Amino acid sequence: MAEQTAPPLDPNPQYDPPADLKSRMKASYDAIAPKYNEWTVSHSATRLRYLDQLLSRLPTTTSPSAPVSVLELGAGCGLPVTQKLLAHANLSVTANDISSAQLSIARANLLPDDPPGPAHGRLTLLDGDMLALDFAPAVFDAVVGMYSIIHLPRAEQVEMLRKIVAWLKPGGWLLANFAADEFAGAEAQNWLEEEKGWMFWSGWGSEGTLEKVREAGLEVVVRETVEDLPDEKFFLWILAKKSES
Ligand SMILES: C[S@@+](CC[C@H](N)C(=O)[O-])C[C@H]1O[C@@H](n2cnc3c(N)ncnc32)[C@H](O)[C@@H]1O
Repeated sequence: MAEQTAPPLDPNPQYDPPADLKSRMKASYDAIAPKYNEWTVSHSATRLRYLDQLLSRLPTTTSPSAPVSVLELGAGCGLPVTQKLLAHANLSVTANDISSAQLSIARANLLPDDPPGPAHGRLTLLDGDMLALDFAPAVFDAVVGMYSIIHLPRAEQVEMLRKIVAWLKPGGWLLANFAADEFAGAEAQNWLEEEKGWMFWSGWGSEGTLEKVREAGLEVVVRETVEDLPDEKFFLWILAKKSES
């Protein structure tokens, strides 16, 4: 597949996301899911490296009988991240996505019917906008958001961080990546060269994002800026911890 070009960044701080952003995002990922997944799954080294860093901080191997609960935001097709989480028998995942096409692919990948795979009973798939999710406080050991929170408008990213912190147990972890550049919003009309590939991203930039993460109440333990080779974009990867008390 051809290499993808980075979307144009809109330097205009007055940029307003379209009012129908969420329905357009859903329609786009419903249309481009197979192409996106084929393109991205082969470039998963960075995702897996940070996932390993998260897993080494969770009691997945040290206390294999302790139940561990993870929320994954914008989980996509479930490969390879959700699958790797579910490889730990004491871990259950709530995987959310706005695209029902992505969730059906994830269901086929992770919950085969015949014979039922090992993840049955440990995976919940939740369709809808991540910002509209509602959970009781302090229910998750970790929240993961890879290449997904960046699809929210910037003000919503801040709101999302506040919700994530509320849903994390004391001592819980956030693993996520964000745009390293600061821009109020960027659109692509035909992302991945797909006719129906309208797309939107936004970012506070590395320093701005770190400030928002800390303001939300997390301690940043790992922060690294990494270039994604397929599309030459830079992302801030963070592992951040909620205080134990
Ligand atoms: C770039 S893909 C990343 C998928 C997966 N996390 C990965 O690393 O391959 C972004 C995913 O986020 C989902 N998404 C976009 N906006 C969302 C929103 N507001 N709420 C939930 N999911 C969203 C998309 O449908 C898509 O599956």
